[in-house]
This record gives sequence, structure tokens and C-alpha cells, in this order.
Amino acid sequence: MKNILIITAHPSENGFTHKIAKKYFDIRKKLGDQVDIINLYKTKYKQNFFSFENKQYKNKLTREQKYFQKKIFLADRLVFIFPIWTGDAPSILKNWFDWNITPRFAFTYSHGMVKGLLKGREVCVITTLGGSVFLYKIFGLYGAIKTIWKRFRIGFSGMNLKKMYMFGGFDTGFVKRDKILKKIEKIALK
Ligand SMILES: Cc1cc2nc3c(=O)[nH]c(=O)nc-3n(C[C@H](O)[C@H](O)[C@H](O)COP(=O)(O)O)c2cc1C
Repeated sequence: MKNILIITAHPSENGFTHKIAKKYFDIRKKLGDQVDIINLYKTKYKQNFFSFENKQYKNKLTREQKYFQKKIFLADRLVFIFPIWTGDAPSILKNWFDWNITPRFAFTYSHGMVKGLLKGREVCVITTLGGSVFLYKIFGLYGAIKTIWKRFRIGFSGMNLKKMYMFGGFDTGFVKRDKILKKIEKIALK
């Protein structure tokens, strides 16, 4: 049995990424896994924009940080499901990383090198795109997004980005929603 934490970041209940998350959730539940979906817009542990006056912020964790860090710590797999906004994740998700992937919990420095403390957790990223994935690939945007996630958001803390999936055409009329959900069934089984 795996412990799977799904994080979504879409303000509307009609956002397609919620349907993807629900599909992923259902498939893994059927397999007997412990699965949680956290919608960052709806959770009672919603976090304001990250801010601090001095480095004291590193010492005193908020109630929300404690909640999320426990969830991360207990997870074998984290799945981030979100739309691409202005070439990246919605800011509420970036804000979640700023708050919760903190020094001493997620990473430390040793001999001038960063040392990830969350090793052993695998990560899957699933995104939707208004435009074309093909164009994102030829203009290097796909690779840029993947590098940011793999090396910084995920790799920095020792976690392993196993796979990133991007589904496009949502705003150009070329999207096949049913086909995507069928693919998610296969992806969730991996
Ligand atoms: C603020 C905002 C920024 C967006 N930026 C991009 C973008 O940079 N590239 C792109 O292809 N689509 C962009 N989109 C389109 C979304 O990616 C697309 O609408 C979404 O993935 C479709 O899912 P939804 O119907 O569930 O919202 C943007 C949408 C919004 C609301």
C-alpha cells in the first residue's frame, strides 16, 4: 500500500485538472492505497503569500507548515496536477513550495553542497495547457519547465521526479478530454 498525496491548484471547481485528480484518486483507491487530494484554493490550511521580516521564519513553523510537512513526510508519492499559467504553475502552488520546502525539513547544506532530506519519495507532475505541447517542445518551454521541476522544486530536496505529463489544446479547441482521462487511468497505474 502506498501513501499518495495529490496536490491541485485550480480556482474553479470546473477546472479540468480537478477531473484528472479525481480519476487518479479513484484508480489508486481501488488499488488499496491511502490517497489524499488537497486543493490549495479550498483547504482550511490555505497559506497567504509567503513573507517574513527576518530569518526567524526558519525557526517557527506555522500550523499550516506543520500540516503540510507532515503530509509530505508521510507520502511515498506526491502528484502535482495543475494548469500552466504564464509558462509555469499557478502562483498558489509556487507559494506552497516557498512555505513548505524549508531548510532542515527538506534540505540542508553540508560541505558547501545541498543535501536533500526527502529522499525516497517519487513525484509525478500532470499539467494542462491552453496551447500546443508540440510548440512548447520546439520552443524549449517544455524542457525549461521540466528542468525547474526536476532540478529545483523536486530534486533540491532529494525527491525524484519520475514523470511529467503535459496535455495541451485546452484553449485552441483541439483538446480531447475523454482521451486524456483514459490516459490518466494508465498513468495512475504506474
Ligand atoms: C492566468 C492564465 C495564464 C495562462 N497562461 C498560459 C500559458 O502560458 N500557456 C498556455 O498554453 N496556456 C495558458 N493558459 C491557459 C491554461 O493553461 C488553460 O486554460 C488550462 O490549462 C485549461 O484548463 P482549465 O480549463 O481546467 O482551466 C493560461 C490561463 C490562465 C487563466
